[in-house]
Amino acid sequence: MKHLRLTHVFAMFVIALAVAAGCTKEGPAGPAGADGTSGTDGKDGVDGNATCIQCHTIDYMNNVKAQYAESGHSDGNYVGYAGGRKDCAMCHSDEGFRETQHTGLDTTANNIPIPTHIQCSTCHSFHETLDFENDGPDYAVRQNGPVDLVMYRTANPPSLVTLDFGNNSNLCINCHQPRTAPPTANGSGEFYIASTHYGPHHGPQGTYLQGIGGAEIGTGYPEPGSSTHTQAACTGCHMHEYTEGQGGHTWEVPVASCTPCHTDASTLDINGKQTYIVGLIEELKTGLISKGVLDAEGHPVVGTYPIAHAQAFYNYAGIVDDRSKGVHNYEYIKQLLVNSINAVN
Ligand code: HEC
Ligand code: HEC
Ligand code: HEC
Ligand code: HEC
Ligand code: HEC
Ligand code: HEC
Repeated sequence: MKHLRLTHVFAMFVIALAVAAGCTKEGPAGPAGADGTSGTDGKDGVDGNATCIQCHTIDYMNNVKAQYAESGHSDGNYVGYAGGRKDCAMCHSDEGFRETQHTGLDTTANNIPIPTHIQCSTCHSFHETLDFENDGPDYAVRQNGPVDLVMYRTANPPSLVTLDFGNNSNLCINCHQPRTAPPTANGSGEFYIASTHYGPHHGPQGTYLQGIGGAEIGTGYPEPGSSTHTQAACTGCHMHEYTEGQGGHTWEVPVASCTPCHTDASTLDINGKQTYIVGLIEELKTGLISKGVLDAEGHPVVGTYPIAHAQAFYNYAGIVDDRSKGVHNYEYIKQLLVNSINAVN
């Protein structure tokens, strides 16, 4: 409308100019011109919702909810035990995670009276963009920026080590990271294991994937970040397309997530490598028991040990809790085990 009116005004202006400039008298108006040809119908635009309803339908979201219901995240086994405690909530409850993501602190301000388990809103918030065509798919993930690792922030002395996988794995490593740095020797080359719960804590997957964070006795370790699995991403293996109870929001690793690279794989135990790592873990366990560091139930025995024995225990506990049986970073985990076994034999 606005455009038409401007043209109209412009035409009047030209006529006015012509009248003012000319001296000749105007003749009668000529005959009207023929009608122009009709324009073609415009193409129908894409439904404004089409990109959105790839995900935002009740059916689609119910499928995701059903997958999630099968997962360990929805179990919330430890939410009552750890989800409300100031020091634990950042990884063990929805409220704790969201609060610490907001404050950037390692603990919540207070204990959380009624913590709830990890759920959609723990990991998702709102889209960063709705222009998927130009900006790529956006899964409305709450946080996928670099992570300052807790174990180094809380070490003595503290330091800042930041891990950045450059993808949605960063979300995972907020929680799937160790809490306690490797042991360091006192003046007499020893370390005091002060509790039967001593160790890196149960979720060291993020640092192993990068190939850092173990108690690096001896040499032979690969460069941090050099494993191709680092690029494979937590989501690539654990959230591969959902089929038959695996992948997607079950976080169970299907063999199909390996076959793009390991084309012949028919099991996760590719070339017997998981079996081999499990054997090394057993060997290390036997060594640690023989040195009195570990009891038969798999707990450390409180006491003072040569630093190498404490380091070997720290690696044992971390690799058991990692639970990938070497897959997260085969060369790194193997080297930690071999060097730890040598230290207790
Ligand atoms: C690839 C899947 C996907 C597509 C495509 C998608 N979304 Fe989302 N959207 C999500 C997820 C995942 C969430 C977070 C989980 C949730 O809130 O259910 C979300 C959250 C939202 C929310 C916030 C809901 C809340 O409760 O806070 C809005 C609003 C939204 N999307 C709008 C859109 C619009 C508009 C489009 C299309 C332009 C779109 N989405 C396309 C996956 C998608
Ligand atoms: C930095 C994140 C983080 C913090 C902080 C944290 N945890 Fe955990 N914890 C995890 C993750 C991740 C797992 C699950 C690991 C897995 O399934 O491999 C876990 C697992 C556990 C388990 C289950 C162990 C098992 O045998 O399956 C218990 C119990 C636990 N945590 C207790 C605690 C307590 C108590 C605190 C506070 C003193 C705490 N956690 C603090 C991340 C954390
Ligand atoms: C532990 C974190 C976590 C939780 C809990 C979680 N999501 Fe997701 N979700 C993700 C990540 C990460 C992605 C992106 C995956 C990728 O990068 O391939 C994603 C992707 C999605 C997508 C798009 C891809 C797809 O699978 O279709 C939808 C839709 C979605 N989530 C919905 C939900 C809903 C609904 C819930 C709750 C029932 C939920 N998510 C819980 C982490 C989570
Ligand atoms: C808010 C913290 C948090 C985030 C974010 C998170 N996890 Fe977890 N994850 C946990 C905790 C805690 C457990 C242990 C749950 C339990 O046993 O109660 C767990 C368990 C798991 C398990 C084992 C499930 C089972 O069946 O025992 C896998 C696999 C896993 N997470 C992968 C991931 C991946 C991949 C991501 C990123 C997409 C991710 N997690 C993001 C805290 C988190
Ligand atoms: C190259 C593929 C791959 C990548 C990348 C990967 N994982 Fe795993 N993960 C595995 C395999 C394989 C297992 C062992 C599953 C089995 O043997 O049943 C595993 C085991 C786990 C477990 C124990 C699950 C259980 O049920 O015992 C957790 C938790 C986990 N991974 C979290 C992560 C996190 C967090 C990341 C990213 C930091 C990650 N993984 C990256 C393949 C991968
Ligand atoms: C993106 C490609 C890619 C994916 C996906 C991938 N791998 Fe690998 N994997 C490699 C490459 C390349 C190597 C060789 C060493 C390296 O670069 O890390 C390797 C090495 C390994 C090794 C070390 C021993 C050996 O045989 O060389 C094991 C074990 C392994 N992968 C298991 C798995 C499993 C199990 C999965 C699926 C859960 C998987 N990988 C997914 C690329 C991949």
